[in-house]
Amino acid sequence: MDLKTKIKNQLQRDCRLEVVSIIDSTNRALKDMANQGAPEGTILMAEEQTAGRGRMGRSFFSPAGSGLYFSLLLRPQKGDPLQITVAAGVAVARAVEKVLGLELKIKWVNDLYKEDKKVCGILAEGASGEEGLAWCVLGIGLNVYAPRQGFGELDTIAGALLDGKPDDEIRASLTACILNEFFALYEGKGAYLEEYRRRSYLDGKTVTVLQGETRFPAKVVGIGDQAELLVEKDGTVLALQSGEVQVKNYR
Ligand code: BTN
Repeated sequence: MDLKTKIKNQLQRDCRLEVVSIIDSTNRALKDMANQGAPEGTILMAEEQTAGRGRMGRSFFSPAGSGLYFSLLLRPQKGDPLQITVAAGVAVARAVEKVLGLELKIKWVNDLYKEDKKVCGILAEGASGEEGLAWCVLGIGLNVYAPRQGFGELDTIAGALLDGKPDDEIRASLTACILNEFFALYEGKGAYLEEYRRRSYLDGKTVTVLQGETRFPAKVVGIGDQAELLVEKDGTVLALQSGEVQVKNYR
């Protein structure tokens, strides 16, 4: 049975799923499909990406045969990419725990960590329409196995969930479980903010906040009710809605 059939057999919702062997970026291609009218629930998955995209114009290393790289098209009536990203982070963490028994932490806003290594990145890209979001492409990249050639220059920051030889049964179960968990949250079945808070990788850490050209040191004190990052700077608590924080010393 091929990977696509293995995934489809475990999905709890009827979806249009395409699996390709190589592509530049599933987010890029699915955005084109969204503009051509593809329906909500369309999923595009690739075994390898040659130009995988991350947040803030970064790339996402996506070599063949080791990770999961897929994008899901949503056409939400309401909601915003931040909430979709947050729900997706919780969905990935839940799926990894259910399928593999591993605990992941979430680094605000979109990275998942196993111990101190990033194992997953999430990129939600939306286009606004007359009433809110016309569509949102939710891209998930998960390093299930370490690539045969290693992570190269990313070796100190990137990691994988498992050692050993890639297994398609596991890759399929993880993909289907992530999608099932995400759809449940997206359809309003159950809450996710408390779990997002509980899994926060940054709580209590001193970080460098990057906002445009500005950077400053701060201490993370929690996650707000809209999933903003709460940081303390010079005795004042600030709620960050966007941007990026780095866990390293301010210079
Ligand atoms: C990040 O780490 O900043 C986000 C990475 C998101 C990577 C995924 S892989 C599938 C989808 N296609 C892309 O080009 N990017 C996302």
